[in-house]
Amino acid sequence: MPNAPLWRGALYRGPCAAHMAKAMTKTPAAPLIPPSPAEDDYLAAVAAAGPQPEIEGDDPFALFAQWLEAAKAKEINDPNAMCLSTVDAEGLPDARMVLLKGLDERGFVFYTNRQSAKGRELDAHPRAALTFHWKSLRRSVRVRGEVETVSEAEADAYFATRARSAQIGAWASLQSQPLEARLALETRIAREGARFGLGAVPRPPHWIGYRVVPSSLEFWRDRAFRLHERLVFRRQGPGWRTERLYP
Ligand SMILES: Cc1cc2nc3c(=O)[nH]c(=O)nc-3n(C[C@H](O)[C@H](O)[C@H](O)COP(=O)(O)O)c2cc1C
Repeated sequence: MPNAPLWRGALYRGPCAAHMAKAMTKTPAAPLIPPSPAEDDYLAAVAAAGPQPEIEGDDPFALFAQWLEAAKAKEINDPNAMCLSTVDAEGLPDARMVLLKGLDERGFVFYTNRQSAKGRELDAHPRAALTFHWKSLRRSVRVRGEVETVSEAEADAYFATRARSAQIGAWASLQSQPLEARLALETRIAREGARFGLGAVPRPPHWIGYRVVPSSLEFWRDRAFRLHERLVFRRQGPGWRTERLYP
């Protein structure tokens, strides 16, 4: 008698038979990194999207406002979230998300703790880049420029709109400093809350607004086969010069 029946019998009747059977029929796991779309996926997306007029505009702020409005209707969270890039004292880039809280023809405003890593980096090198990415729209905007601080009155007005607990949090958080335990933060919040009692919570002097004054803005839109569309606005005198870039 050959050994095969004995071997098979042991495998199928052993304690791990069910597990082995499952493993042998299991569909392979999807790759962790999504694969690139196939030719047909692109063609189907192009057909579904219909004709796509090119990005047009001569006022980058108006165009940005249109895109943000569209993102508000589609993004599930924080359509005003943007990646803020700065450089540290050694010239090493640093980047993190912040929320856009003000926009006009002067620039893009966000608020933070001046004593945080980003605050210290901006005070030493007042230049920054912002990147918006609206995944649901497959659009992105990049902004680069000098950074200035917003007026006290403007920061006060925005701070006054924040929830009281968030106002107290701005006093309590030593943003970017080591936190030995969550309890230390909670203790500081309790202490600051007690300090203000039922009274109004003023803006902490270190909690300020920064404005990125764009020297350039790029509007990027996904197109099939990675042949994306890019329109750049560069400041020229009182106006803007536009230029299209290869993807
Ligand atoms: C969606 C999102 C929005 C955020 N908005 C802000 C913000 O407006 N201001 C801020 O100080 N931190 C914000 N944060 C936290 C920052 O990303 C970061 O953790 C914090 O500011 C400390 O950064 P720093 O150590 O580089 O200064 C946000 C984080 C996320 C994910």
